[in-house]
Amino acid sequence: MRIIAKRSESKKLSSNILTIAAEAREAKKLNPNVIDGTIGTLYDEDGKMLEFPSIKKIIDSLSYAEKFGYASTAGTAKFKEGIARWALMQTYDDVTKDFYYGVIPTPGGSGAIGNTIDNYANEGDSILVPNICWGPYNAMAKERGCSVKNYELFKDGQFNTEDFKKDALELAEKQGRVLAIINDPCQNPTGYALEDKDWDEIIECINEISKDKTFVLLYDMAYIDYSHKGLNESREIFRKFKQFNENVMVVLAFSGSKTFSLYGLRIGAQMALTKDKEEIEYFNNANEFSARATWSNAAKMGVSLVEKLMFNDALKNEFMKELEDASNLLLDRSKLFLKEAKECGLECYTYKSGFFITIPCNGEKVFDRLKENNIFVVPLKQGIRISLSALSKKEIANLASKIKEVL
Ligand SMILES: Cc1ncc(COP(=O)(O)O)c(C=O)c1O
Repeated sequence: MRIIAKRSESKKLSSNILTIAAEAREAKKLNPNVIDGTIGTLYDEDGKMLEFPSIKKIIDSLSYAEKFGYASTAGTAKFKEGIARWALMQTYDDVTKDFYYGVIPTPGGSGAIGNTIDNYANEGDSILVPNICWGPYNAMAKERGCSVKNYELFKDGQFNTEDFKKDALELAEKQGRVLAIINDPCQNPTGYALEDKDWDEIIECINEISKDKTFVLLYDMAYIDYSHKGLNESREIFRKFKQFNENVMVVLAFSGSKTFSLYGLRIGAQMALTKDKEEIEYFNNANEFSARATWSNAAKMGVSLVEKLMFNDALKNEFMKELEDASNLLLDRSKLFLKEAKECGLECYTYKSGFFITIPCNGEKVFDRLKENNIFVVPLKQGIRISLSALSKKEIANLASKIKEVL
């Protein structure tokens, strides 16, 4: 007889990056030469968590109640508008002319993704994700009685639109609805970013399906603020979304962890865009309900931070400049790694920008051998993920050739 509930018997994380990262941290304590490329946290060149001075300044200025009081489950008007303006930036006026929107504060982007699966997939549905993607999507789907369907992310190093379309159509036929998660730009784990032509085909496919079925595009924008395109240019995609018809809802999953470099604070947002006003009412009601039923309310400190930052132009400009510097730091690291990888013939999946680079190989096999050589990375089925975000340029120098040797 089992004490654990029937539905929980098979719950077990197959790989937990946070556990591997803890192991790497311990190893580094014993040996400072250990290369810890495991964690998706941005560190500065001295190996310390990168801190944005503008964000620290705001947090230091908050009162006790602004930091630690209860936040509202649904979110305040200021938080909602602040997030919408940040998410859409210069496209805000244009996009909100065509779309209604709703915003719910969440514990990180994870809360936004979980809530979306909760309310936009029926039990037993499959969620459409690429074969190389952020692992927790699987657990989040399973937790809600769903599973994932994987399309091939790449064909000849480019987005595999054919496979996306094939699997989306198949799910639409089977389920009468599709929920697809696209993590873009700076895809975790490859650093890939979709091209305009890929988006054109994706939008055409979604509009075709949604003539008589519903389609929810969960746009996981966790790393958008580190895009090689810059803060404004990366938002131009939202103008394209205006082409979506009424049966489509776009849900943006915003991560304050990455944007503000406040990973443990657990602040994020779930933002819906749709042309159907009634759907926004359903969105607000159902997602507020789910929030109350799971985490109750998001971190007040994060909510207060958004309220202060987004309506103060001077602070916002300061922060945007700091973000730009952080993106450039990542870009410098990636250029160094990719240059050396090319020189020694180490193959990488197509990288454009972001925290991670992934090398195609049998990740599980290579992981232990790298560890023996004091290199800690994240093993995946399709490769090993290296967090450039966590490594200084000094640590990245010669890393490609060391990995090549082990491979
Ligand atoms: C692709 C992707 N989406 C979403 C998240 C959510 O992060 P958080 O819940 O900390 O905002 C992460 C974090 O690692 C991620 O890599």
